[in-house]
Amino acid sequence: MKRLLFTALLLAAAIVLHGRGADNDREMDRFIDDLMGKMSTEEKIGQLNLPAAPTDIVTGPARESDIAVLISEGRIGGLLNISDVKKIREIQELAVKNSRLHIPLIFGLDVVHGQKTVFPIPLGLSATWNPDAIERMARISAIEASAMGINWTYSPMVDISHDARWGRVAEGAGEDPYLGSRIAEAYIRGYQGDLTEDDEILACVKHYALYGAADAGRDYTASDMSRYRMFNWYMEPYKAAVDAGAASVMSAFQQVEGVPCALNRFLLTDVLREKWGFDGFVVADYNAVGEAVNHGMGNLEEVSARALKAGLDMDMVTGGYIGTLGKALEDGLISEEDIDRACRRILEAKYRLGLFDDPYRFCDTENPEDRLFSPTHREEARKIAAESFVLLKNNGVLPLGKDARIAVVGMLADDKANMLGCWTVGADTDSPVTVLEGIRKAVTDPSSVSYSRGSNLFYNPDMDRVSRNQGKDVDRDPRKPEEMVAEAVEAAAKADAVVAVLGEAAEMSGESASRVDLTIPDAQRDLLKELTKTGKPVILVLCTGRPLVLDWESENVDAILNIWFPGTEAGYAVADVLFGDVNPSGKLTMSFPRSSGTMPFYYNETPNGRPTDGRWVKYASCYMDTGWTALYPFGYGLSYTTFSYSEPSVEKQEYSLRCKDGQYSLDTPVKVSVTVTNTGKAAGAETVQLYVRDMAGSVARPLRELKGFEKVMLQPGESRTVEFTLTADDLAFYTPDLDRVIEPGEFSVMTGGSSSDVRSTGFLVK
Ligand code: BGC
Repeated sequence: MKRLLFTALLLAAAIVLHGRGADNDREMDRFIDDLMGKMSTEEKIGQLNLPAAPTDIVTGPARESDIAVLISEGRIGGLLNISDVKKIREIQELAVKNSRLHIPLIFGLDVVHGQKTVFPIPLGLSATWNPDAIERMARISAIEASAMGINWTYSPMVDISHDARWGRVAEGAGEDPYLGSRIAEAYIRGYQGDLTEDDEILACVKHYALYGAADAGRDYTASDMSRYRMFNWYMEPYKAAVDAGAASVMSAFQQVEGVPCALNRFLLTDVLREKWGFDGFVVADYNAVGEAVNHGMGNLEEVSARALKAGLDMDMVTGGYIGTLGKALEDGLISEEDIDRACRRILEAKYRLGLFDDPYRFCDTENPEDRLFSPTHREEARKIAAESFVLLKNNGVLPLGKDARIAVVGMLADDKANMLGCWTVGADTDSPVTVLEGIRKAVTDPSSVSYSRGSNLFYNPDMDRVSRNQGKDVDRDPRKPEEMVAEAVEAAAKADAVVAVLGEAAEMSGESASRVDLTIPDAQRDLLKELTKTGKPVILVLCTGRPLVLDWESENVDAILNIWFPGTEAGYAVADVLFGDVNPSGKLTMSFPRSSGTMPFYYNETPNGRPTDGRWVKYASCYMDTGWTALYPFGYGLSYTTFSYSEPSVEKQEYSLRCKDGQYSLDTPVKVSVTVTNTGKAAGAETVQLYVRDMAGSVARPLRELKGFEKVMLQPGESRTVEFTLTADDLAFYTPDLDRVIEPGEFSVMTGGSSSDVRSTGFLVK
């Protein structure tokens, strides 16, 4: 009963959030009942089929291509990987004019951090700690994607990960479920709005679930864990996105509890539908239904039938649904109701997009260019990129003067395509501004800026080969490594400061880009060592899609500015920060470890019986050969100014807890305040963080968990008191039986500018 009530409440909330009234829903239901009444079983299965668009599907003889024929037969529900509005319009015409029931298609693409105007990679976006900025980024992405005919994006990726070896950490918001949830909501708001405008598109929350916990950080391996861990560390961002009204969910590739996510009834039905009240549709990840055969789940017919029954509505590219569900129905593996349920959900999405009113809503072929890569979009991208940079170290060398003689070094400094980062399928690879261009544009005299490449990415050409970017080989300079280093060192010797732009190439993170060695690639690291020997101040501008191990760098260079992959405005944004026009304010959302061997790593771990402060102690929890604490922890990031924090205070020391119908409440919310002061000489933004610890429980609770954050802009000398409000839900957790509870007792609250630099107070819940 309790569960039913909870589900009903969620459903009501979801409906309000979607901006749909009961009348609209009834109208939609009538429309879809009527339409489905006319559909053959084959046509219904057709709606569940999502193939990739072949190139030139509609031109000339391709009108007769397999896909075009299937579209005309009503046996395709949507297409992915096409982003040309004119072609999309032609394809839509094929569907609407040629198919018996004139059902329009949906068109999906990975618009992950921008379409033509590219923003920082999502891990970089999360480092802004600015959900409003992320919402604006998603809004611009939706405007640009819809101008190209796309009405469905495969974003946001909300997978929490504790393992920087996994390349896809670049696509997510880091290691914290609270921050990840606030960011997930922002993406949904930005992409979907209320789905009433022609430039608001369907979002797709991925990869459900636990993809970020792939064993050993190797892509596609199983993720297995207790349900206690699953729900308290990983599930919240998916749920937050669903609560925010996400129209679709993508199931993940890997197994959870031994069952591939696309076939996992517990995830797709018990949790997603029954616990969370999700009312959109679920699409499989690329070929995931077919790959269930490789997982040892049976033949294609069996896995397809099992996926449908588990709650997977749409099959991406496998052809398993269209190829076998008819037979599975005859064989009694599935029922007509199973097909109807999935078909209805896809038709509902099309209805909500307004495609039945106007199938060409997203096919405005008049000057789509006007809405793409506009000066306003680029300005926003530049601002957000600069806000995403994290200053990891600065001994005072930054900001640089604009009249300094600067030696810019590193192959990534003079590179456009790599600035985009992973998953930028719609962008033009020559659109980004390079770091070198940005610096030359900003300085007083461009001729005082020299450039030398210094090295290739790696010494080993095979490693360069596997780091291909956007389908292209990474450029290799045929010169000997010593020759390249000597040229760079000579340039450094003549300069006042060295800006070394080094790190990973864009596709060293993202899908299928796992690494075991998390250091800067060897040839570049050696180059950096030689540069420091010149005695000139060396600023490392770091490109990376994941936390790297910067043990040597942190000790030996003068400053480290982590720029992730900043997107199309890279060079301008880097110059804005290097020369102090923008004061850096990014903070890490994934801890940077001291060694690759400490993976998995996350700040919000539970206590153990033998704690240490990070150093080695016999019979305690530590490593013999490295400290176990983060080199740069979650929440960390410097500024060109400094901030001081007061002790936090709570309004009341004791709160009484009530529980009615499974809903917890406190007599009054917990109000925590802390005063932060800009103690330096520059204006700057600081992200004030609030952590909570449940001091004793029936299960071990994390040492600290983020429960609030606020970014404040402060002038030199200015103070601001930031007030956080904790509700009952902020103190709750999932038990191993998945009840959400609050246990009375002592709570500690901590505030500060990083997860490892906090001051604390406490309160009691009775
Ligand atoms: C990725 C997804 C992506 C899909 C469609 C898959 O390989 O895992 O994140 O959305 O392809 O391009």
